Amino acid sequence: MRVSGVLRLLALIFALVATWIFIRSYISLTMKTIRLPRWLAGSDSKEIKAVKTKCGLSKPCPDNFFAFKISSGAANVVGPTMCFENFVIMSPVKNNVGRGLNIALVNGTTGTLLTQKCFDMYSGDVKLLVKFLKEIPEDTLVLVASYDDPGTKMNKETRKLLSSLGSSYAEQLGFRDSWVFLGAKNLKDKSPFEQFLKNHPDTNKYEGWPELLELEGCVPRKVF
Ligand SMILES: *[C@@H]1O[C@H](CO)[C@@H](O)[C@H](O)[C@H]1NC(C)=O
Repeated sequence: MRVSGVLRLLALIFALVATWIFIRSYISLTMKTIRLPRWLAGSDSKEIKAVKTKCGLSKPCPDNFFAFKISSGAANVVGPTMCFENFVIMSPVKNNVGRGLNIALVNGTTGTLLTQKCFDMYSGDVKLLVKFLKEIPEDTLVLVASYDDPGTKMNKETRKLLSSLGSSYAEQLGFRDSWVFLGAKNLKDKSPFEQFLKNHPDTNKYEGWPELLELEGCVPRKVF
């Protein structure tokens, strides 16, 4: 075979492969499930499923774990979002978030939402938050996301109550810090689910605010 013949053959192969890749990606775009041709998948042709995890987690959670994802607000512009077991509890779209501390309570056994509330920590009444935290029932998961300013009205009692839910950073939470947290009523240890960024001019991502935080994970279901 001549060089030109080899080139022509290569071009043909290239065209075939490109067409095949194009058709494949087109099919997988339009359909959730694709069935590979028998000659490609072998004798027991299997369906390839586009696996979508709950709350868009990077990895699916094992059985008896709840999937969650919490994003703090971005500066004072975009509100926070909370997802639990693929259900968006709080978000700007749901129009149930606000500046300050956004808190959702979830039954630790069933995973059902008990309540969600936003507490203004800049000009609001901190007594409302203290009352809310004191009345959290046993075996309840507590999801928290900051927006704009979670710290101005913080007092000793609030910090103590938040620490008793397993928070490590509630003690130092201040003006315009970013904070995302998942804890539980009467948690014996510190929660592994927490992120914190201090508002500091040298490290702030936005003018006047640190970067927004994202926290995702699998929290074990409370079993009796
Ligand atoms: C959580 O769910 C369990 C099981 O259904 C129930 O017994 C318990 O009372 C619930 N807790 C709250 C605070 O609703």
